[in-house]
Amino acid sequence: MRIRFRALVAVVVLVVSSVCAAPGYAGNEADVTYYRDVLPIIQDNCQGCHRPEGLNLGGVVAPMSFMSYQETRPWARSIARKVEAHEMPPWYASEPKGVFSNERGLTDGEIATLVNWVNAGAPAGDEADAPPPAQFVEETSGGWSVGTPDFVFQLDEPYFVDDDIYDLNISFFKTLTEADLPDDVWVRGWEFKTGAGSVAHHMCGFYRAPSPDDKPIEEVAAEEGAAGTGQSLGCIAEGAEGTMLPDGFGVPLEAGSTITYNMHYHKEPGEGSGVWTQPEIGFFVEERPVTHRVVTDSIGNTAFEIPPDVTNYRVGASRTLDQDTYVLTYWPHAHLRAKASRYTAVYPDGQEELLLDVPHYDQGWQETYKLKEPKLLPQGTRIDVSFWFDNSPERAARYDFRSEDSPGHGPRTDDEMALGFIGWAVEIDDSAPATGGGN
Ligand code: HEC
Repeated sequence: MRIRFRALVAVVVLVVSSVCAAPGYAGNEADVTYYRDVLPIIQDNCQGCHRPEGLNLGGVVAPMSFMSYQETRPWARSIARKVEAHEMPPWYASEPKGVFSNERGLTDGEIATLVNWVNAGAPAGDEADAPPPAQFVEETSGGWSVGTPDFVFQLDEPYFVDDDIYDLNISFFKTLTEADLPDDVWVRGWEFKTGAGSVAHHMCGFYRAPSPDDKPIEEVAAEEGAAGTGQSLGCIAEGAEGTMLPDGFGVPLEAGSTITYNMHYHKEPGEGSGVWTQPEIGFFVEERPVTHRVVTDSIGNTAFEIPPDVTNYRVGASRTLDQDTYVLTYWPHAHLRAKASRYTAVYPDGQEELLLDVPHYDQGWQETYKLKEPKLLPQGTRIDVSFWFDNSPERAARYDFRSEDSPGHGPRTDDEMALGFIGWAVEIDDSAPATGGGN
């Protein structure tokens, strides 16, 4: 009798607590509606990708739009599954948490709201409860993701990616005229547009200050590849977000500089598959004083060979900082066989800190991890970057490569890479080397 009574009390408490749930908190299935409870979560966490022209991460674009109830409703079951499994919104770094400005994720409460809504039959509710539509910067900036650039440099001539092209890595150059850029400036942000839609696998940008003794840039590019053509501005896939640096951080762009647009095109060859392309880079000028100069660099290994049929082959690279350095971004870059990546700092006193752990690397999701606050790594710190590769027949079947091959570093999709890109900054000091952080 006593036991039964307790059970009854528990039931009563449960009922009371769900009745008391405040509007907006979706503790009770019957109470959750799309317009009031679900739409705000989808606006903040999903629509950035799930809309026409949404964000692209290394060629992966959300295949469906969640801009309206009508668009979202058919995906309700799948939404519940994906959020419960923590597969959506996508985020691949297991560590560290809370330090990246672009970190994605839902709280347990938000996941419960979405799941309860789906279990309740995904009701629309009253449209009058809906929040105002989300605003996207691109709508007012001409398609740029971080605002309207102060100036945009488009390649002078369009380029035709021929019908028979499967994989093409090619660099184009533009030397800035006085009309393009009359004076030296500091820039605090930039964004690329590949101008090539889905045939652009990725695009990298570089800038080289004018110098009378420099070899012609075409010659440098032929000998050393695009990475020899100056300071890197990083690489992106079509539609990826632009870069905006923190206050006081900038990149010097000198009048007369030459911009390199390094393009990697990848498509199915065939009659009618050719595409006209014309890449652009937009820059945002920094008018306020700049105290730290930013360099995008990579800690990479280009001298490896992954044996056939291995499942956990590690490729590593290290750099020891020759001066105090602020780290801003990490972008682990590898291809189809890469299954994990990690960046670690080893401080001068031997202490180690995990800077970035991506335990399930997927080359389809090229994420740049952006620190909220620049992180100071003192002189003498060693940064270790590792990639782990799986060249097994199982992975080969899933990702469409040949596990019999022994790929090394190379630009084609069928080659591999193990490049730990890193954006860092040093305090401006005339004696600082132009290449920034490391040696
Ligand atoms: C960073 C971009 C991005 C964000 C943010 C994002 N998604 Fe996605 N989503 C994708 C992409 C890309 C795919 C396609 C996945 C693929 O092709 O592997 C996808 C696929 C899906 C699918 C379809 C899975 C299937 O069954 O095929 C669902 C459902 C989904 N997302 C739900 C969500 C929800 C809910 C949110 C917000 C809580 C969200 N996504 C946030 C990019 C995103």
